[in-house]
Amino acid sequence: MLRSAVRDAAPAGGRRRWREGTGKRAGMTGRITVVEGDITEQDVDAIVNAANPSLLGGGGVDGAIHRAAGPELLAECRTLGGAATGEAKVTRGYRLRARYVIHTPGPVWRGGRAGEPELLARSYASCFARAREIGARSVALPAISTGAYRFPIEAATVIAVREARRALDAGGLEEVRFVCFTRRDADVYRRVLAAAPG
Ligand code: APR
Repeated sequence: MLRSAVRDAAPAGGRRRWREGTGKRAGMTGRITVVEGDITEQDVDAIVNAANPSLLGGGGVDGAIHRAAGPELLAECRTLGGAATGEAKVTRGYRLRARYVIHTPGPVWRGGRAGEPELLARSYASCFARAREIGARSVALPAISTGAYRFPIEAATVIAVREARRALDAGGLEEVRFVCFTRRDADVYRRVLAAAPG
């Protein structure tokens, strides 16, 4: 069943939100949305951080989340002992609107023959598993690995959408929100959502 990505009426603040049409697969209760914006501003139960294996902060979305959450986030991250690529660990959200942050190091793109697609899929699957464990009903995710780690956005988005659908099928989640920092990336997500059948 071809899904249609439909645009909701522009909500307050003019942020464009796209929600998959009602043509969901039977049994899939939640929805996937795409927004253009800053993940630190999202009012969801958990936000995902595209971290590095130290889990001790960095640039990009990692830096933005640590800045917005405040120093207590780093203090808790110090207790985690890092994470392997594809793993995901949970902390509180502190000054963020989200109650939790799910930190995952995605893979660095090395040309595509070093298991990067499988590792990126594992990062997404691990994040959704942690979300289920903490009882999160809504989770916002950036485009993991597509910045400093140079994973091609199109291929990464196909993986992200596939893992999101699997997580929604497993139940427990009401919303998976992909938060894109640029319109270009948001358009890729919308295209993949609209095109990928089933
Ligand atoms: N909100 C949403 N998305 C954001 C934000 C933000 N505030 N800031 C950046 N992004 C987007 C980027 O545009 C990109 O699409 O997040 C995506 C991931 O880019 P990076 O943050 O560079 O993450 P990644 O490619 O996974 O590289 C991780 O970079 O910041 C360091 O510590 C991090 O070493 C790790 C590496």
